[in-house]
Amino acid sequence: MQLQQATWQEVERYLQTSTGIIMPIGSAEQHGPNGMIGTDAICPEVIAKGLGEAAGAMVAPTISVGIAQHHLGFAGSMCLRPSTLIALMRDYIVSLSRHGFDRFFFLNGHGGNIATVHAAFAEVHSEVSMLTREAARPIRCTLSNWWDSKGVQKISKELYGDDEGQHATCSEVSVTQFAYPDMIKNANFEGRAPAYSGIHDADDYRRRYPDGRIGSLPSLSTPEAGKRLYDASINDLKDTYRAFLTED
Ligand code: NI
Repeated sequence: MQLQQATWQEVERYLQTSTGIIMPIGSAEQHGPNGMIGTDAICPEVIAKGLGEAAGAMVAPTISVGIAQHHLGFAGSMCLRPSTLIALMRDYIVSLSRHGFDRFFFLNGHGGNIATVHAAFAEVHSEVSMLTREAARPIRCTLSNWWDSKGVQKISKELYGDDEGQHATCSEVSVTQFAYPDMIKNANFEGRAPAYSGIHDADDYRRRYPDGRIGSLPSLSTPEAGKRLYDASINDLKDTYRAFLTED
């Protein structure tokens, strides 16, 4: 069930059966010549939707903009400062916890978010720890990256090998093509993108990786591959989500 399509009474009923919620989080940043700006938000959003159906879980609105200052050299990229994302996540979690949600399963689509998401968890835990025992509401948060699942890794390796790359990867572009088959872009690629050599600021990124890709060849992406990756991810995440709900 998606929170934004539910009524408040439906949410109340859901809370009598589960206090878990899936929180998709991504980024709005360039993804090379054939990748959508929203790639990192679209992937966890569609996977969260499928996972929500498979696990009978509530899915929160996607956090679609994340930590992406290094992509600002490319038109359309947006970013939050780490302090802004921490504040935003804190408000999402605390407002949902008022209703009784206490297991927050963040499903992430962007490697650049990981450090800040963990900092936001520390912020929330600090707040709970500093309250009196009576006022404190137990809150558990966890982060899963959709691409880290064993099934996804296996398929990515089998289909793309080293052409998978590190940014604007074949796999993530494939998942967006599966999600939006009418929006598949054609682009001319001149071979492999530069290999990863570090990242600093936006101008530095643009100089090192002129078309935005890092090490990838996403002309190999297909919606069929996207479907396989989507299924594999949901299959693995279902167990991860259920295990998280039963944690103390
Ligand atoms: Ni990405």
